[in-house]
Amino acid sequence: FAAECFQHALLRWYDTARRDLPWRAKPDVRADPYRVWLSEIMLQQTTVKAVIPYFEAFTRRWPTVDALAAASRDEVLAAWAGLGYYSRARNLHACAQALAEGGFPADEVGLRALPGVGAYTSAAIAAIAFDLPAAVVDGNVERVLARVFAVETPLPAAKPELRNLAAELTPALRPGDYAQAMMDLGAGICSPRSPSCLVCPVRAFCAAAAMGDAERFPLRAAK
Ligand code: ADE
Repeated sequence: FAAECFQHALLRWYDTARRDLPWRAKPDVRADPYRVWLSEIMLQQTTVKAVIPYFEAFTRRWPTVDALAAASRDEVLAAWAGLGYYSRARNLHACAQALAEGGFPADEVGLRALPGVGAYTSAAIAAIAFDLPAAVVDGNVERVLARVFAVETPLPAAKPELRNLAAELTPALRPGDYAQAMMDLGAGICSPRSPSCLVCPVRAFCAAAAMGDAERFPLRAAK
């Protein structure tokens, strides 16, 4: 499998088709760790569309992690109202205070130790905010990889295999853009139902598309 060619095709597509989202930096500008962290916490169980107005409101009111840390817990909880999963807001406030005190950890292990930051979120922040080659694997990325490699193992048993594939495919150059390109591909083109294989930038690399049956992947164990 030509990993470099896959990465190159995906990144070239991202350079022209990337979604303009408020937490994304302009091309070639380092992302703000505060905005990346805040967006990733909000996106944990909530769609991009629902998150955008909350992200805009939070960053207008609290433009820095120090500002958020200085807010009262009740103010933060009130501003979170409507996003759901309120433990996220409590962790967010506690985490802001830890970050204001100790600064942003700049690696996956340090990030993982923060309240509310799990394996996915620490990898996403490491890649997007610090340009570290962390393997960022959410449901969208699992679906893309299961199709590209026509993984016949059903989920959830396929998770370790998909994680290994993700780690092998993560580039040393532009890992943050690569992670977000995989997210955009999974959200917009490699959709769960009726994927748009005809316009997919990595179709030439996709074993499931070659079988003419991308929608069959990922397989799921019968409940
Ligand atoms: N979902 C989670 N993180 C995301 C990001 N950075 N961009 C788009 N969708 C996401």
